[in-house]
Amino acid sequence: MKNTAAYERLLKCFEQVRAKVSFEPRAALVLGSGLGAFADEIKVEAALDYSEIEGFPVSTVEGHKGRFVFGYVGDVPVVIMQGRVHYYEGYSMEDVVLPARLMSMLGAEILFLTNASGGINGDFSAGDFMLVTDHISSFVPNPLIGANIDELGTRFPDMSSVYDKQLRDIISSTAAELGISLKQGVYVQLTGPSFESPAEIKMLRTLGADAVGMSTVCEAIAANHMGMRVCAISCVANLAAGMTDDPLTHAEVQQAADKAAPLFKKLIGASIEKMGK
Ligand code: HPA
Repeated sequence: MKNTAAYERLLKCFEQVRAKVSFEPRAALVLGSGLGAFADEIKVEAALDYSEIEGFPVSTVEGHKGRFVFGYVGDVPVVIMQGRVHYYEGYSMEDVVLPARLMSMLGAEILFLTNASGGINGDFSAGDFMLVTDHISSFVPNPLIGANIDELGTRFPDMSSVYDKQLRDIISSTAAELGISLKQGVYVQLTGPSFESPAEIKMLRTLGADAVGMSTVCEAIAANHMGMRVCAISCVANLAAGMTDDPLTHAEVQQAADKAAPLFKKLIGASIEKMGK
């Protein structure tokens, strides 16, 4: 059985974008909570609202704009997703990973993912940045379930090094040059939208997770399937449930992400500039 419907839909989205924008990105960047403004700071060549692409999933979360911005970070041609869709909004995994697949088809060889997370590792503080070294995807449905799209990749893709070592080295050395402290660790994706319970956080720590969030891993899997080079940085917006006496709120997460945004943007921008070299 071939997954023709999913591929046809992707092709249709691709053709619509190509009809409107001829720009060829080398890298694709997905902006998480609080980071949307980064896209307004680059040398913009074109922009396209998701709502202008028939068949494209549109986000409903507050604080997430919905558009592609095409332009240059330094000399590097990029496509930026200003806002992403999440599984907890009720979209299928096929919807959630469609944008990453589309950006690959537009020419992006690199996928740079960002997000806000809850810190599980006891050495982390709110406001820290964590370079993702590996992930745990086992709590969300795999985005590759269903007939394989052979045009994109193989049925059983290897996931032993999803987060590209060379890109990680670039991000680490950039952080060091900028004097930005950068933690490293394993990111686990849960479905959300409820935050975790303290018992769940204890379980996730036992399993080897350093930070938890509601995005990124499924996109990384789909991108790896297509042969993209992937990297990801997480902004630890809060310590996870049960690690402090405070209850978690979306407003608090948003606030922490907003506060960390200037430094986060600096790190992302400087890293991407080097990725083009
Ligand atoms: N849990 C899950 N997702 C999150 C958190 C959290 O504590 N903080 C920001 N995103």
